[in-house]
Amino acid sequence: MQVLVTGGMGYIGSHTCIQMIEKGMTPIILDNLDNSKQSVLDRIELVSGLRPLFYQGDIRDKTFLDSVFSKHNIDSVIHFAGLKAVGESVAKPLEYYDNNVTGTLVLVDAMRRANVKSIIFSSSATVYGDPASVPINESFPTSATNPYGRSKLIVEECLTDFQQANPDWSITLLRYFNPVGSHPSGELGEDPQGIPNNLMPFISQVAIGRREFLSVFGDDYATPDGTGVRDYIHVVDLSAGHIAALNKVGTKSGLHTYNLGTGIGYSVLEMVKAFEQASGKTVAYNIVDRRPGDIAECWADPAKAKTELDWSASYDLKRMTVDTWNWQQKNPTGYPD
Ligand code: NAD
Ligand code: UFG
Repeated sequence: MQVLVTGGMGYIGSHTCIQMIEKGMTPIILDNLDNSKQSVLDRIELVSGLRPLFYQGDIRDKTFLDSVFSKHNIDSVIHFAGLKAVGESVAKPLEYYDNNVTGTLVLVDAMRRANVKSIIFSSSATVYGDPASVPINESFPTSATNPYGRSKLIVEECLTDFQQANPDWSITLLRYFNPVGSHPSGELGEDPQGIPNNLMPFISQVAIGRREFLSVFGDDYATPDGTGVRDYIHVVDLSAGHIAALNKVGTKSGLHTYNLGTGIGYSVLEMVKAFEQASGKTVAYNIVDRRPGDIAECWADPAKAKTELDWSASYDLKRMTVDTWNWQQKNPTGYPD
């Protein structure tokens, strides 16, 4: 099975490529390296024993896409490529709509020309907005609170309309909760450029001494300890969810929507404590104001993926923190240039 992996040099894409290789699938990576480094390819090869084909280019480049599709018999596309920083999306909405929405439309149009009719799209739990209750299942109403979230929602809606008009296509929307962790080898992990937006990489950089302290965004939420609660999922489990989706529904026509989460929520302070245990380091923190746009709690009802994809998360919080710390220690400044 040959699978075009857009954004395959990024955090989730690179981990997914390793599992594809382990399962005998052939990933072909397409990435513009906007948020990743060429050396990721060396690490994929080191861990998996195989160097995937890599095309450097942009999903908005029609000619480039046509040339890639013309060279291979691609069975399916996993579409990770996109911009993902919520705060940046507020400051640069056009860039986000162009990359995430236009990029996806250009990609799907190229797939249509190449007669490739199967796509798995990286969506997000952000499409549930501020949910009325938890756990969240796939039939909850959707909404957006920022341009990043809206770009994901718009793409979901475009793909839904497109699938209705083209019922022989297989379109899978995977709604990720909060991906964390690293490959157990410590060779691959999350490598945010600049100041991390997300909790885990921030905690990890405090533990290694790159940052002085963590700012905990609010301790007055209606949660057990007052800090925000999220469904953190190990990136290896998340990657396995893509393999399961490819195998179970990737060749089945229809629109398939799944939450990929663990079904368990942890607070910010629980994450800090777990990381301290895993690393043996103290993670200094200060309580500051709430971050605008944040919600109190968010975790998945993962039952649909369990029933239909035969997939569920198996890595616990300890593995998430131990593996993150292993990656951080082995690569204190991330991937080499
Ligand atoms: P990432 O930034 O590590 O990976 C994305 C990759 O896409 C990068 O390698 C980047 O260079 C590439 N890229 C960006 N725009 C491109 C373009 N126009 N053409 C070609 N390549 C392009 O991000 P990630 O954490 O691996 O996330 C992958 C996907 O999952 C994204 O679509 C993201 O929105 C979605 N997602 C991520 C999270 C999360 O917290 N990490 C949560 C929910 C959903
Ligand atoms: N937090 C802090 N300090 C920080 C960073 C985060 O206290 O420095 C808190 C947040 O307030 C929140 C929790 O840690 O309570 C998690 O925050 P993240 O930024 O790590 O994750 P979010 O839940 O805000 O958002 C993430 C991705 C989104 C995605 C969403 C759901 O960033 O892209 O998960 O999948 F949409």
